[in-house]
Amino acid sequence: MESNQNTDLKYYIETWGCQMNEEDSEKLSGMLKRIGYYRTESKEEASIILFNTCCVRENAENKVFGNLGALKKLKEKNKNLIIGICGCMMQQKGMADKILKKFPYVNIIFGTHNSYKFPEYLNRVRSEGVQIKEIFDKETEIIEGIPVDRESSLKAFVTIMYGCNNFCTYCVVPYVRGRERSRKSEDIINEIKELVSKGYKEITLLGQNVNSYGKGLEENIKFSDLLRMINEIKGLERVRFMTSHPKDLDFDVVEAIKDCDKLCEQIHLPVQSGSNKVLKEMNRHYDREQYLDIIKKIKSEIPDVAISTDIIVGFPGETDEDFNETLSLVKEVGYDSAFTFIYSRRNHTPADKMENQIPDDVKHERFNKLVEAVNVGVINANKKYENKVVEVLVEGFSKNDSTKLSGRTRTGKLVNFIGDESFVGKLVNVKVLRAQPFSLIGEII
Ligand code: 5AD
Ligand code: SF4
Repeated sequence: MESNQNTDLKYYIETWGCQMNEEDSEKLSGMLKRIGYYRTESKEEASIILFNTCCVRENAENKVFGNLGALKKLKEKNKNLIIGICGCMMQQKGMADKILKKFPYVNIIFGTHNSYKFPEYLNRVRSEGVQIKEIFDKETEIIEGIPVDRESSLKAFVTIMYGCNNFCTYCVVPYVRGRERSRKSEDIINEIKELVSKGYKEITLLGQNVNSYGKGLEENIKFSDLLRMINEIKGLERVRFMTSHPKDLDFDVVEAIKDCDKLCEQIHLPVQSGSNKVLKEMNRHYDREQYLDIIKKIKSEIPDVAISTDIIVGFPGETDEDFNETLSLVKEVGYDSAFTFIYSRRNHTPADKMENQIPDDVKHERFNKLVEAVNVGVINANKKYENKVVEVLVEGFSKNDSTKLSGRTRTGKLVNFIGDESFVGKLVNVKVLRAQPFSLIGEII
């Protein structure tokens, strides 16, 4: 119904940060669509611009400031433009006031715990012309039933728990996302069943620490029980989950992956550092040896499993020896992929107050070495796929080469191959001809 679209009703959302934020944005978008708004990908066209922010690292914050500054011109051109800003950054003490001072033309500010109130705020701004700043310090009960406007029609994220209780010393997440709380299994199962009825084939269960799923619920349920229940849903093809904390990964989860056909052979297990001294300072509650034991067990129980991780370089006090321990761990594990980060000081976290902060040039040098080591492992891991037949869920035509279809294996590897549109949305068997550094080239068999 393009012709009926009213330009006053167009909104633009930009999202920084993790999948959790992506999912929140899908809900914000879902709520706006329910009250009659249309999404646009152009800021110039929009009458509402919403920034969903991240504060896990400083550079994510800087990008938000830059983008907010750039909106001044648009606001001058269109006095009715409504600018909203929400997400993790807003939960930080003093941040909302800082933003209002620097960017007084912002109309709505809210945090991670009250995003369900966005339509109400919007209504008030439009009808009363007020500026709104409302941030809840604490998490609320989980609000169910918020409509979700999903990016893909094949793959969906489903949050199973919110918040984090771990307080790793570098991390702001527990401060901005609140304490751990799990959704009832019934709500999760119903959401997935509904997705399947709409044609979704793959879901990724999200939580900061999925292995503590179920704690605090009235029902007596563990994460592996939930996985087994989800595996029973007819029509669903693939289930992934993230993130697992090495201190909490129980072997009944590994057993579940072995037993359940829909659970993909893929585990995201952030190690953060290979040095026991640094792991202790990070408050991670496992050591290098325990981590490597878990990896060994996973690899021996689940053949061809893909293991990914998160790693930080330049944590306070990290010596060359500590960093070399990280490099040697990376070599030993041979990750299928890794998110690598330069330590970023975050206000109010214990690590920010630690002495021996590492100079930027050392951090960057270590980062480059780490990326190199990770890439060697990734290329080796991909090579193992050559001449093998893999199951691929076809997502569409490749962004880089529109003559090829593109999809992922159960282990999350990107595969490109020749084929026509009729394969989109289907599971196909593909023979891998060649491994490239970050993707595989194959042919349908
Ligand atoms: N600096 C750098 N990386 C961080 N992460 C979390 N906090 C910080 C920080 N202050 C990384 C961790 C985490 C991932 C989501 O972000 O590796 O697993
Ligand atoms: Fe942050 Fe640690 Fe919680 Fe992950 S487990 S969100 S790194 S505090």
